[in-house]
Amino acid sequence: MIFGASGFLGRSMMRAFEDWKVTGTSFRRKGQGLVTVDATSTDDVLDALSRFDPDVVINCVGERRPEAWANAPARAHELNVEVARLLAEAARHYGASLLHISSDYVFDGAAPPYRVDARRNPVNAYGRWKLLAEDAVRRACPEAVILRLPVLYGPVEYAAETNLTQIARQVGSGEPVELDDVCVRYPTHVDEAAEVCRWLAAQSKGQYLGSVVHWSAERGFTKYRMGLMIAQHFGIVPDHIKAGAASGDRPADCRLDCMDLRAALGRPVDHYRTFADEFPQAVAPWVRTA
Ligand SMILES: NC(=O)c1ccc[n+]([C@@H]2O[C@H](COP(=O)([O-])OP(=O)(O)OC[C@H]3O[C@@H](n4cnc5c(N)ncnc54)[C@H](OP(=O)(O)O)[C@@H]3O)[C@@H](O)[C@H]2O)c1
Repeated sequence: MIFGASGFLGRSMMRAFEDWKVTGTSFRRKGQGLVTVDATSTDDVLDALSRFDPDVVINCVGERRPEAWANAPARAHELNVEVARLLAEAARHYGASLLHISSDYVFDGAAPPYRVDARRNPVNAYGRWKLLAEDAVRRACPEAVILRLPVLYGPVEYAAETNLTQIARQVGSGEPVELDDVCVRYPTHVDEAAEVCRWLAAQSKGQYLGSVVHWSAERGFTKYRMGLMIAQHFGIVPDHIKAGAASGDRPADCRLDCMDLRAALGRPVDHYRTFADEFPQAVAPWVRTA
């Protein structure tokens, strides 16, 4: 059962699990066979688990839009922390395995790479909520698997849905834009993240119970570098793109050490998606040259 199946990661999860018997839930977005569940409601969550009796619950509910953190922090806290706790309590109550999605923002970005047991020290509200969520999940459901991911990209429903497509819009517009050339991000294809979740879910009765795992692409880029790559690929003269300072209270470099999971997956390095190969397809519909 995938909670948050209408969201960016949740939609990809639904594709990755299409040959499983899977129930996806959404809240505002209706249709496409999704079941409407308010994951902030104890009654709704318990009712959903008792109706569908899942073996595995995956929590893709969250609030990761910076404008929502600033404008409605109580709601963002509820979606990031309270929902995590509630789903963990419900999964434990109904005997389902739980895969909880967390973020590299639990780290301060000052001393990468971060192993799974590295000290967490978030520098902004989102990171603090994700940390609180991890702790709430662990308390309520000790056997849950917690997967930390970095920034994701892939097929979107609207340009603002990912950082990368937002940058593509800015680059394509030809309007002057300053892009952060300080903070390093490890853009990871959303479908690869979902495939890793599928693999973890299949192992969920095994060695990963109760553990924290990391998944991330290997190569890091600043937003400015991503902007230049988009400009170069689409033949856009980059004179309007300037290298800027770090934007807001973001960690500088949260590179996740994924060696354990890479070794366990046992695939050759060139099996994985690289940003350089994948970004053109992800941004093509959103680059509007002036
Ligand atoms: N996107 C990234 O780059 C990234 C990176 C690292 C970690 N993560 C984590 O991955 C998870 C999923 O992120 P995402 O990018 O897929 O987020 P998203 O696109 O904003 O999706 C959020 C999901 O939560 C659902 N939701 C919102 N309010 C709800 C409620 N009251 N009850 C039930 N469902 C509700 C939404 O459903 P409706 O839209 O139908 O209301 C949607 O399906 C989050 O925990 C996030 O922190 C994301």
